[in-house]
Amino acid sequence: MSCRAAILISGSGTNLQAFIDAVAAGSLELDLCVVFSNNPNAFGLQRAEKAGIPTACIEHGDFSDRESFDRAVIEELDRWNPELLILAGFMRILSPTFVKHYEGKVLNIHPALLPKYPGLNTHQRVLDAGDKWHGSTVHFVTEELDGGPRILAGRLRVDPNETAEELLHRVQTIEHQVYPEAAGLVGSGRVAFNDGQAWIDGKVADEPIVRTFP
Ligand code: GRF
Repeated sequence: MSCRAAILISGSGTNLQAFIDAVAAGSLELDLCVVFSNNPNAFGLQRAEKAGIPTACIEHGDFSDRESFDRAVIEELDRWNPELLILAGFMRILSPTFVKHYEGKVLNIHPALLPKYPGLNTHQRVLDAGDKWHGSTVHFVTEELDGGPRILAGRLRVDPNETAEELLHRVQTIEHQVYPEAAGLVGSGRVAFNDGQAWIDGKVADEPIVRTFP
């Protein structure tokens, strides 16, 4: 039985599409049980419907605070019994209640080589700093924003002449490979969250697995 995974989106869902394609191609063993969005206009919902995956949507604007929205999301998601929650461009900060409820089960991808550049606008910050390497990191979600234990990072060389927009596109392309790979490792049990740390093949992982791309 493959691991039941819910994917949470707010927008275009190119990462969601990468998961759909990897499962269809047989290179990823996950049961994509539901795609959830806080935005009814998220294009990713259409991608899910086209792939025959159930969808659910709760608009955060209908709630007066984060806590009550998150409680409603928990109630909805729990109906699908997910073993793994995959944040794929889900543009809501999760409350401690949500993080605790799904401790060790939530993955995020952040477009930077964490711990560098948590937060927004990462591509421009990398260019401004003159960094040689940039990329994207898959990590377990904890209460610290973009700060949970890292699992797998995809990296590429920065061309100092490229724009932030060009860099964003290159990083997104590698995300579509590293995110399904990382989720597959968690789904199969090779990577786990325990005692606040990531474990890879039974050993505490101080550093993530790193893939280098052209
Ligand atoms: C990705 O670039 C990811 O790094 C960030 O949100 C973006 C989602 O893009 N967390 P998409 O909706 O999957 O195209």
